[in-house]
Amino acid sequence: MARERKETFILGKELIRFNGVSLGYAGKVVLENLNFSIDENDFLGIIGPNGCGKTTILRSITGRISPSAGSIEISRKLRLGYVIQRQFLDEIFPFSVRDVVEMGRYDRLGLFGRLSSEDREVVEESLDMVELRHMMNVPFRSLSGGQKQRVLIARALAFQPELMLLDEPTNDLDIAGENKIMDLIHEIHHKKGLTVVIVSHLLHVILNHVEKLLFIQDHRAVMRSIDKITEDGFISELYGSRVKIGTVGGKKVVIAE
Ligand SMILES: Nc1ncnc2c1ncn2[C@@H]1O[C@H](COP(=O)(O)OP(=O)(O)OP(=O)(O)O)[C@@H](O)[C@H]1O
Ligand SMILES: [Mg+2]
Repeated sequence: MARERKETFILGKELIRFNGVSLGYAGKVVLENLNFSIDENDFLGIIGPNGCGKTTILRSITGRISPSAGSIEISRKLRLGYVIQRQFLDEIFPFSVRDVVEMGRYDRLGLFGRLSSEDREVVEESLDMVELRHMMNVPFRSLSGGQKQRVLIARALAFQPELMLLDEPTNDLDIAGENKIMDLIHEIHHKKGLTVVIVSHLLHVILNHVEKLLFIQDHRAVMRSIDKITEDGFISELYGSRVKIGTVGGKKVVIAE
């Protein structure tokens, strides 16, 4: 069986396609037989418990790890913006907010390794988008968790991606911080028109934003459109406990019965 990540021209709206993909580390299988695609303009949530392999899927999309079985087809020249899980970030370096966002332009550096005035404009626009232009000279490590997260989103935006991958962007944030990040991601999808893949282990956080969900459980993945997940028994079966999706004030909520 083919085992590769290949860049290709995929027909139609598909940007990425997983064909019978298995992923793992040093002989340990994390995920098996993944079959799904990410289409242009999708707002996809990847959901599952800690350690089930959500970050691993993102790493396979960016090419950091290769499938142990199957193949991943990825649309040629697709520009990927990757917002890493904040906990993985090394914060020992004294970077300013601006330095961190400028990293999003490094692939476009010219002959002398300097940012052009256009690069700087894109950096400032990205900071505007996350409402942090006024803090661009502040050291990154002195920011709050929510502000750091917004800087990381600005860094990915500065890369001018077509597909944005976000790994647990609301981890460790309070409810107000969580809402602010989710509203920002909503805007990135709806106003900037980016295809978005967001990873979370909390269904209630992404439920009211995403349009499709990839549920990961026991090394497998199941794709569902958001209007189908209320189907009787689906969520309960998945979580092995009685869970329902209800509505309060027009918003979907997760109810443990
Ligand atoms: N570099 C690595 N080497 C070996 N095993 C790893 C490596 N990275 C992750 N794993 C293992 O692979 C499995 C999936 O890890 P992954 O980080 O993808 O999970 P996750 O769903 O993103 O978890 P979390 O919700 O905690 O972020 C875990 O059992 C983890 O211990
Ligand atoms: Mg993870």
